[in-house]
Amino acid sequence: MSERVFNFNPGPSTIPLEVLEEAQSELLNYQNTGMSVMEISHRSKEFQAIVQEAEAQIKGLLGLGDDYRVLFLQGGASMQFSMIPTNFLTEGTVANYVVTGAFAKKSYEEAVKIGQTHIAGSTKDVNHNRVSLPEEIKLSDSPAYVHITSNNTIFGTQWKEFPDFGDVPLVADMSSDILSKPFDASKFALIYAGAQKNLGPAGVTVVIIRQDLLDKVPDTIPSMLRYDLMAKNDSLYNTPPSFSIYLLNLVLKWLKGQGGLEGIAAHNEEKAGYVYNTIDSSNGFYSGHAEKSSRSLMNITFRLPNEDLEKAFISQAAEVGLKGLKGHRSVGGIRASIYNAMPKAGCKALADFMIDFQKANS
Ligand SMILES: Cc1ncc(COP(=O)(O)O)c(C=O)c1O
Repeated sequence: MSERVFNFNPGPSTIPLEVLEEAQSELLNYQNTGMSVMEISHRSKEFQAIVQEAEAQIKGLLGLGDDYRVLFLQGGASMQFSMIPTNFLTEGTVANYVVTGAFAKKSYEEAVKIGQTHIAGSTKDVNHNRVSLPEEIKLSDSPAYVHITSNNTIFGTQWKEFPDFGDVPLVADMSSDILSKPFDASKFALIYAGAQKNLGPAGVTVVIIRQDLLDKVPDTIPSMLRYDLMAKNDSLYNTPPSFSIYLLNLVLKWLKGQGGLEGIAAHNEEKAGYVYNTIDSSNGFYSGHAEKSSRSLMNITFRLPNEDLEKAFISQAAEVGLKGLKGHRSVGGIRASIYNAMPKAGCKALADFMIDFQKANS
């Protein structure tokens, strides 16, 4: 296929074309260094400028000040599942988890290996077709923190309003909806996200952490797992995934050009609207997995009347350039991942395809 397609993959996923073109244009010679950004030293002033700019851009987009740091780490969001309890689940405290999906469960399971844990809420009994209601969440005594997953990539659900637990540190895995809409980031003690959905390429994980937590890291923790050491070294304690950070920085600039979080939120609402409206007006031919109140603007999950039709849908969609629509096995059916970089035209094309497919098959 010579043309670019509409890429609905859940991650790695679509990256803005303008960003890829910009990276291409300076791939061989980054800012007159005579080298690719992949070849320059991570200690060079050019690379340090990229890291500083990326941190400043994320803080700027989220309206955060000097009481927060932004770190660029490795190991994916999955490494954070372990790093968070390793740093903050101390003797006599209990890590609280709200389990609203598969990754939330994984993060909980890692904490179980480290210390005392408590499931403060779970939507397992409804196959995670919604997030927890505030009144369903019950914290343990002496909570070290409460961990939530802001968007459940596999199930297609998303918190519309974040719960408030007062002084208990709120920690969120925002891997699949970070920087997709405005929210009060100052309510969170720690936010983390693998970059490969809304922020660019795989290989870098963003951690946004409140400064006061950095003082709480016990001395016994190995260097590469220490938030305080990573912060002290401005994410350059060891060689970072430099190309991924560079591309992430370009994605952040692109996001600013889209009108920041307000602008991208309007874009995301409109995009998701094309697909959800098609589901809702299909007389049941398409049935959404998520309850309406928890519908994700990032991952849209739905079923067709039978699995043969689902297979035909996926293969015929791919033939017309709508790729990556197969759902995860725990939900089945279709999942359309429509992160920030998915253009409106992609969602419009998917909605049109859905209407045509229904006409041809009912
Ligand atoms: C919500 C969420 N958390 C964590 C992960 C795991 O991320 P990684 O592969 O970067 O470890 C994913 C991956 O899809 C995810 O969607």
